[in-house]
Amino acid sequence: VNTNNTSMIHYWNYFAKGIEYTLLISAISVIFGVLLGTILALMRFSKSKLLKAISVAYVEFVRGTPLMVQVMFVYFGVGIIVNLPALLSGIIAVSLNSGAYVEEIIRGGINSVDKGQTEASASLGLAKSDTMRFVVLPQALKNIWPALGNEFVSLVKESSIVSIIGVTDLIYQLNIVRADTYRGVMPVFIAMCIYFVMTFILTRVLNYFEGRMKHAR
Ligand code: ARG
Repeated sequence: VNTNNTSMIHYWNYFAKGIEYTLLISAISVIFGVLLGTILALMRFSKSKLLKAISVAYVEFVRGTPLMVQVMFVYFGVGIIVNLPALLSGIIAVSLNSGAYVEEIIRGGINSVDKGQTEASASLGLAKSDTMRFVVLPQALKNIWPALGNEFVSLVKESSIVSIIGVTDLIYQLNIVRADTYRGVMPVFIAMCIYFVMTFILTRVLNYFEGRMKHAR
């Protein structure tokens, strides 16, 4: 749009598109992140030394490198073989990243269950897998659910990095608005407020469900 109108209201659709992409990337990535994280956690707790090692190495590596580099690596690296759209690359990279963090959440949740629970279950003659399924996991989930919610909130903020490969998320959009209006600060301030409102609302919603889950028990 080339207009002399530098009012931010005029650019609401830019911000709206940014919000849409930011939420889309975060929501899809947290779903794939949970799937991948669950697989990694299963590998981590499996008897196979190899699977365990792969899981540990993956989590260490992903958590030890910046999400920014991972996003660039997926986009440009895979781009050598097939041309991936930026949005898809962004979602893949953020999902792969989130999987490592989710593995830690699940592992932490399982480890938080007192050892006595496992011992008591074993002494009652339950098989190891049944102990996991009926004794440990239900208790672990109490810690895992809220942490997964936090991961979603984290992704809303962390996904902002995909703007470097040209995904039209909120950060990308705010830069367009800056360039278009020659206003350096206002678009940034608005994006900041939008991020806050998103995480604030999300946190309230998640707390609401968390509260309901406690009553269900
Ligand atoms: N910003 C940090 C990084 O670049 C943290 C990424 C957090 N990722 C997550 N799935 N919670 O590595």
